[in-house]
Amino acid sequence: MLLYAGRTAYVCWRHLAEAVREGRNQYLKAFGIPSEELFSAIYRSEDERLQFMQGLQDVWRLEGATVLAAFDLSPFPLICDLGGGSGALAKACVSLYPGCRAIVFDIPGVVQIAKRRFSASEDERISFHEGDFFKDALPEADLYILARVLHDWTDAKCCHLLQRVYRACRTGGGILVIESLLDTDGRGPLTTLLYSLNMLVQTEGRERTPAEYRALLGPAGFRDVRCRRTGGTYDAVLARK
Ligand SMILES: C[S@@+](CC[C@H](N)C(=O)[O-])C[C@H]1O[C@@H](n2cnc3c(N)ncnc32)[C@H](O)[C@@H]1O
Repeated sequence: MLLYAGRTAYVCWRHLAEAVREGRNQYLKAFGIPSEELFSAIYRSEDERLQFMQGLQDVWRLEGATVLAAFDLSPFPLICDLGGGSGALAKACVSLYPGCRAIVFDIPGVVQIAKRRFSASEDERISFHEGDFFKDALPEADLYILARVLHDWTDAKCCHLLQRVYRACRTGGGILVIESLLDTDGRGPLTTLLYSLNMLVQTEGRERTPAEYRALLGPAGFRDVRCRRTGGTYDAVLARK
């Protein structure tokens, strides 16, 4: 994670003042890559892609079980982790809920590395699916996990993605959003505010309050939205179809 921070995040943070003034990420200045293609900048070489995947997955070894236990997920036998990267969270999921199967959905370049280099692919309860979650058909499932995905995108793109998830979701199924939640008034916690600034310099998105997640999930069709703070870095929001 530190290597990723040094080679990518820090390069963007050098342009913090412009990011704040312009209200957008700084990939063009940092890497000469247009802001709409944020994952092209992060994945600008196979080495960088692998490093990002390794850096991101480590937190789930520490906090995966806590965040997945925030709600009882045992009623959901088939779980699809959208933007699931290396499959580390899916691995934590099948270990906590042995009766479930998990599909890890991500873009082809990430799925191919996940299968070659990460251990989730050795678990027969976990399968991988390549695709673009904004365009391609999503696998049918009982529960969709979106962990650190919505914070990458604008409200408009989140709405589009959530509508697609709602359509693919089995009746009675649900969605679990895993993010670091801002306080109701948006003025803390400090770590989450710093993450939000990190999202400004690196993505199109930001961290959000529970009310802001409700405002995205409700219009997409989801009901019964419940938010749980875990006391750790990441929190959980569960909603039902
Ligand atoms: C910030 S990472 C989070 C990864 C993982 N969920 C986690 O929490 O460790 C966002 C993930 O979304 C994936 N992603 C980005 N755009 C995507 C798209 N259009 N379709 C599918 N996956 C995408 C990225 O490859 C990456 O794995």
